Amino acid sequence: MKLVHISDIHLTIPGERMGGLDPHRRFAQALEDVRAHHCDAARIIITGDLTHWGEPAAYIALREALTDLPCPVRLLIGNHDDPKSFLTAFPDHPRDPDGSINYAETVEGTRLIYMDTTAPRTHVGHFCEARRDWLMAELQSHDRARLFMHHNIMPIGLPAEDKIALVAEDRAALAELLSQHRDRIDYIHFGHVHAPVHGTYCGIPFASVRSTGNQSLPDLKEQHFLQGAPMAPSYAVILTGGAGTIIHDIPFTWDGPVFTTGTGWEDWAKDVAAE
Ligand SMILES: [Fe+2]
Repeated sequence: MKLVHISDIHLTIPGERMGGLDPHRRFAQALEDVRAHHCDAARIIITGDLTHWGEPAAYIALREALTDLPCPVRLLIGNHDDPKSFLTAFPDHPRDPDGSINYAETVEGTRLIYMDTTAPRTHVGHFCEARRDWLMAELQSHDRARLFMHHNIMPIGLPAEDKIALVAEDRAALAELLSQHRDRIDYIHFGHVHAPVHGTYCGIPFASVRSTGNQSLPDLKEQHFLQGAPMAPSYAVILTGGAGTIIHDIPFTWDGPVFTTGTGWEDWAKDVAAE
């Protein structure tokens, strides 16, 4: 199964820039690249920060951008999103019985679980008891799952970033739940950090993906301030199957030179001038 993972598109009211760039153009470039190269994807999953300021017009622009795509799109909300405006633009979007934008589906034998890690008026992640109960029911009733969410649910060794990870009081109970079901969870995928971060948590591998806009610079000492830069964006292509999980980072804005070469030994031999 092929899954396209896009995150942190931070759409604005069309015409407004964000962080010095046009987020709509960047998102359109990413989708165009998906159309050109990944028509065989089973899902396109966008893990939150769909908009930057949560404005209704930004969600309408998102809805209009999600047309003529090769496969279904799954949306998650992030700390920059406004659930009310999101649900106004996407009124039929699924949610759980408590109103959180949690939902799940089975695709090619794997339960894809889309978790709502947001709370009102905070950039910090939350996953309360009601949401944990919902997740537990999902994990107990499916023996193979893959989790998608906006926030990193674990600290990642960046003091400033970790201030807006999953809130400490929700962390231990979620970690216990994940540990209990680690054999059923293939991978944890998230956005939020605007950078590729990989590791394991509760014995489960995890990976984040860059933003389609600005990227964050990993600073292992800075205590207070997040640092960003207009470095190249990317999205991820996730391949799953008998070989496990393979994740490719797709630099969709690259328009510079591309060199080609064969893979035989002689193809990489040093050029020697004719004697
Ligand atoms: Fe973001």
